[in-house]
Amino acid sequence: MCGIVGYVGSREATEVLIEGLRRLEYRGYDSAGVAVLNGSGVQVRKAVGRLSALEDELRTNPAKGGVGIGHTRWATHGVPNLVNSHPHVSYDGKLSIIHNGIIENYRELKNELLEQGVQFKSDTDTEVVAHLLAKNYDGDLLATVHKVLKRLRGAYAIAVCHSDEPNRIIATRVGSPLVIGVGEGENFLASDVPALLKYTRKVIFLAEGCLAEVTREGVRLFNTEMQPIEATVTETDLTLDAAEKEGYEHFMLKEVHEQPHALSETIRGRIEGERIDLSELGLTADMLHGVNRIAILACGTSLYSGMVGKYLLERFTRIPTETWSASEFRYADPVIDPGMLVVAVSQSGETADTLEALRIVKAGGARTIAVCNVMGSSIPRHCDATLYTRAGPEIGVASTKAYTTQLAGFVLLAVGIGRLLNRVSDVEEARIVQGLRELPAQVKSLLDEDIVAVKRCAKRYKDVFNFMYIGRHFNYPTAMEGALKLKEISYIHAEGYAGGEMKHGPLALVEGTFPTIAIAPQGKTREKLISNVQEIKARKGVVVMVSTHGDEEARELADYLIEIPACEEELSPILAVVPLQLLAYYTATQLGRDVDKPRNLAKSVTVE
Ligand code: G6P
Repeated sequence: MCGIVGYVGSREATEVLIEGLRRLEYRGYDSAGVAVLNGSGVQVRKAVGRLSALEDELRTNPAKGGVGIGHTRWATHGVPNLVNSHPHVSYDGKLSIIHNGIIENYRELKNELLEQGVQFKSDTDTEVVAHLLAKNYDGDLLATVHKVLKRLRGAYAIAVCHSDEPNRIIATRVGSPLVIGVGEGENFLASDVPALLKYTRKVIFLAEGCLAEVTREGVRLFNTEMQPIEATVTETDLTLDAAEKEGYEHFMLKEVHEQPHALSETIRGRIEGERIDLSELGLTADMLHGVNRIAILACGTSLYSGMVGKYLLERFTRIPTETWSASEFRYADPVIDPGMLVVAVSQSGETADTLEALRIVKAGGARTIAVCNVMGSSIPRHCDATLYTRAGPEIGVASTKAYTTQLAGFVLLAVGIGRLLNRVSDVEEARIVQGLRELPAQVKSLLDEDIVAVKRCAKRYKDVFNFMYIGRHFNYPTAMEGALKLKEISYIHAEGYAGGEMKHGPLALVEGTFPTIAIAPQGKTREKLISNVQEIKARKGVVVMVSTHGDEEARELADYLIEIPACEEELSPILAVVPLQLLAYYTATQLGRDVDKPRNLAKSVTVE
């Protein structure tokens, strides 16, 4: 986790670093810090908590200079406090380092340094690297970093500067993201592109294991053998606007409202007439030959889209499919063989557990497809094919548009694979394609209409301690995702349950003030879920129903009714989750929660 940023040029480095860190706060916000060089030493400023605390610190205690590195932390080794904040400085006070990732062998290295008499200030793995670099420093920071890298195990993106070489920053990455921004007479580095957009659109994605020397004059890249390599500079089409709130109070709300557009983007170019066209993925019947089972691997919200994905893939391909939490899969001694097709789902493409699970299945000879939102991120780079969801940057920690676009991605994938295998009829395909075409406008109408009902509901129940969400089949994962949204941002306990399981335990919780959100759009299991709702009503439970427009039975039963447009059953999770996102959002805002940055969480979990 963590976000890193670096600058070399003629501006005040702290201005650029703070701007960059602001865009990276989604990666962690336990503490923030900068180190700035001005030709006569290194000035380090740190503060615990949000970036604003660091800005306050810099106002009282400015750090002037045109070369600097900055960091926003999500604690992994050591509690979030000032000494554990980055940048870390070597024992001789000359070298400073920022780091995103984990040095797995830090204990061994630390013991070695302790034996040599080095004293440690923090509990972090990063400080070990600072001292190790200082011990090995021979007047050339680039060569020193290259030498020391060989001793590090783990995943990391690091940037280092040294007060004896005040005109350059050395950076490298293994398993954690790092992008270099190319300017005129100034250059940048960061964990992610939005941190650079105010200054440049020209970026270089640093390849795994390579080193970069960033100076005012330019950027030099080296491979693992220290041979110079050509930099591929690309022009990003991301805009700063896309990374801003555009008038919404929170990124999450903006991202919820972006869903109609995001869904159009996911579908764009992938439906043609009455057909699904996945040729961009290079998927062929040949490539799928011999696939006898599918495993979906993901974490968090992506895991729930994977649960819907299982139902979709089984329905349209008839290939047995299972969905795994990547963190469980890794240690479950899974059976892997070349007949296995793996779908790795990830908004960020950087989630460590998913990435590791992917490495395991690849080693076992499985074929791999990514469903991912971030172009060029690690998970797609490790897969044979990728379906990019094209939702645009998602900043709010609670995932919304990434989720619904993943669901649309699974619809495309399931029907597309089904057709390649001749298991989907033309009529069936045309039915889904038509449904997909209508989807963006339906989500738009839902956002326009239902906000009032959802707001009323949020106001009424914001002070309860527990919520139950129930659904069945395609909308069982919707119940889990709805509950997760509420937990994440309002801190109210919520559980997502399969409707049919209520009578096997949770029904005991139901009494007059206990609210259940029942997701019962039209489809095969609607009637069954209505029966489950009746069981709850019979016990005087309160029920908020999410059902299809015009469902009179739902209207009669519900204490609160949230209606979604009529749609194909397979697409209903995409529509049904939208009011649940809003319910969580309005509950959280009424409780005064920090919606975009809920406590203890981070957007991109690059640690195991
Ligand atoms: C974190 C985020 C979640 C996300 C999960 C998986 O927990 O807060 O919103 O669903 O990671 O992330 P990924 O990028 O792999 O989808």
